[in-house]
Amino acid sequence: MTERAVIERVGRRRLWPRSFALRAALAAAGVVLLVCVLGFGWGFLRAQEALRAQIDISVRAEAESFVSDFEAHGAQGLAEAVVLHTRRRGATRVVLQTLGGQRLAGQLPGAPAALRGYATLYPPEGGTWRAVGALLPGGLNLIVAADLEATDRTAAAMAGTLPAAGALAGLAALALGFATARQLERRLHSVTAAAQAVMAGDLTRRLPLEGGGDEFDQLVGTINTMLARIEELVRDMRQVTDDIAHDLRSPLSRLRQKLEAALARARDPGADAETLAAATAELDAVLATFSSLLRIARAEAGLRGTPPQPVALSDLVAQMVETYAAVAEEQGQSLEAEVAGGLAVAGDAALLRQAMANLIENALLHGGPGVRVRVALRQEAGAPVLEVSDNGTGIPPEEHDKVTRRFYRLDRSRNTPGTGLGLALVQAVAQLHGATLRLADAAPGLRVTIMFPNAG
Ligand SMILES: Nc1ncnc2c1ncn2[C@@H]1O[C@H](COP(=O)(O)OP(=O)(O)O)[C@@H](O)[C@H]1O
Ligand SMILES: [Mg+2]
Repeated sequence: MTERAVIERVGRRRLWPRSFALRAALAAAGVVLLVCVLGFGWGFLRAQEALRAQIDISVRAEAESFVSDFEAHGAQGLAEAVVLHTRRRGATRVVLQTLGGQRLAGQLPGAPAALRGYATLYPPEGGTWRAVGALLPGGLNLIVAADLEATDRTAAAMAGTLPAAGALAGLAALALGFATARQLERRLHSVTAAAQAVMAGDLTRRLPLEGGGDEFDQLVGTINTMLARIEELVRDMRQVTDDIAHDLRSPLSRLRQKLEAALARARDPGADAETLAAATAELDAVLATFSSLLRIARAEAGLRGTPPQPVALSDLVAQMVETYAAVAEEQGQSLEAEVAGGLAVAGDAALLRQAMANLIENALLHGGPGVRVRVALRQEAGAPVLEVSDNGTGIPPEEHDKVTRRFYRLDRSRNTPGTGLGLALVQAVAQLHGATLRLADAAPGLRVTIMFPNAG
């Protein structure tokens, strides 16, 4: 649905509130009322039924007492009792008539010509009566009846509490709904406001927590963690962009100066060749930086769908040690190794080789003259652990976290060749393999440990 369509729809249905909680409250109130109305009907019928059964019993008892009058005092006695009863104007009416319907004593409007057993009467002047009739010797018919209007009113009054309670419950549901809707609106509004601030560029903005630990707070907590992560990523990206620009500026401007100077000079094949060679070296360094950055980016992006390949880690480490042992010896340094055989990990062999090379080169380059480098690969708790340590100058513990950042180099390394990307790549490669990278003081020197995850 387009935005416009949404607005039009909302406009058309303005009577029906947009607030979810309010709609829920209205629906709940409606259901409560409906249930109460149905409950009223059902309750009325049940009460009416029970009360009418009661009436049946009482008219029958009354008829029976008249019959005993008849048995004790004969027709005359019965007629007198009926007259007396009628004069008293009680709740019941009674009539004594012949079987043909001719009235002898008492009065019951709408009485049938003859009645035996129960009947419901609807007299012409209105109302409903419940009657019971008895046939007596001598062609007599006695009918006793009670008005049902009063009992029906009682039944209605009894059942009537239901819709009243329902109305109250409905009102309560509505009030609760309103309160919930306001509360929900308030909290959602604060989320919307914070989200808008973030969109407007304030990446430090966080959503307010109520502190109750409810579902809302849990959601807000998750969103805040996400915002913190986004902020971190954006800050990292800005930092990296800054660093790249900063780092590549000097070699490129040096290159430009050299070329400009060469251009201003009189042409001389010897000097030109020297300039070109220097320029090429400068460009090589720039290109090396770019390929390191790309390698880090590749490692950080993950394996991108290509499944991790099994890497014979023991063989890989042994090869790297062999390659660098000769280099170390030439420089008057030493490289010794203790490599457990048969260890393997799942991942990317080229990246692992590059990470190894970076660590050994760091030890040889930054460790100082005559440094002794030790490479160890062993199995710990079922998982491979790779360790590269040296007895050189080391890195102060407070710098351990920083040196894995891109372009970060210790001040003392300013004049040592390098880009500051070596440990950043090691970090990214470790992360790619689910491994933990740890820098520690080897007293003296640096010990770098990569703990791979348990393969099983
Ligand atoms: N084995 C080591 N001994 C002493 N310092 C080291 C060692 N490894 C790294 N460093 C310090 O950490 C910094 C970052 O290392 P790295 O990311 O590999 O960048 P680079 O080697 O290009 O300078 C280095 O500049 C150096 O100052
Ligand atoms: Mg390095």
